[in-house]
Amino acid sequence: MIRSSLIVISLALAGCQSEAGPEFNEEASSAIQEFATTLRGALMQAMQEGGPIEAVEVCNTIAPEIAASLSEQYQFDIGRTSLKVRNPDNQPDEWETLVLKQFETRLKGGEDIAGISFSEVVDTEQGLQWRMMKAIPTEQACLTCHGATIAEPLQAIIDRYYPDDQATGFSAGQIRGAFTVSRPLGN
Ligand code: HEC
Repeated sequence: MIRSSLIVISLALAGCQSEAGPEFNEEASSAIQEFATTLRGALMQAMQEGGPIEAVEVCNTIAPEIAASLSEQYQFDIGRTSLKVRNPDNQPDEWETLVLKQFETRLKGGEDIAGISFSEVVDTEQGLQWRMMKAIPTEQACLTCHGATIAEPLQAIIDRYYPDDQATGFSAGQIRGAFTVSRPLGN
C-alpha cells in the first residue's frame, strides 16, 4: 500500500501520469457499481409506479443524494457527468471534458462502451488526486427522457427543473456520460 503510493507519487512528480494501485480501481469500481444499481432501481421503480414525470422528480432529488451518501461510504468523491448535462451541477471540469472526449474517440474506434474507463493520478490545485471515469451507455429505456423527442407534459417538467437542459437528442448505443470518481492522495 505505502509502496504503491510512493511509486504513484514519484511517477506523478516525474511528470508522467500513471495508474494507481489496483486497490483503487477495485474500490472505485464497486462504488460505481453500487451507484449505478441503486439509481437504476430507484428510477425504474418510479417509472413503474408513477410514470416518467414522477421519475424526473425522483431523479432530481435522489441522484445527488445517492452520490453524497456513497461518497461518504467509500471516501471517494463520486458523481456523474457528461458533455451534454441536464443538471448544471454535473458540468464536467477540464480533466473530465478531456476524458469524455477521449471516450468518444474510443467508441468511434470500435470499443464496447461497457468496457470504456480510464484512471490516472492528476496534479490538481488541491494536490495529487487519483481520478477515474467510467462511460455510461445510452439504452433504449433512457430515451424517454434523453432521446430526440420528449413527450409533453414530460418536456414541460424537465424544462421546469432544468431550464438549461442539454441532455436530449441521444440515441441508443451512444455514450450518455460517465461516472466520475476522485480521491486525494494525501500528499
Ligand atoms: C424519467 C426520466 C429519466 C430517465 C428515464 C433517465 N434519466 Fe438520466 N436524468 C434524468 C434527470 C432528471 C437527470 C438530472 C438528475 C440530477 O438532477 O442530478 C438525469 C441525469 C442523468 C445523468 C447525469 C448527467 C446530467 O446530464 O446531468 C446521466 C449520466 C444520466 N441521466 C443517464 C441516464 C441513463 C444512462 C438512463 C437510462 C438507463 C437515464 N439517464 C434515464 C432523467 C431521466
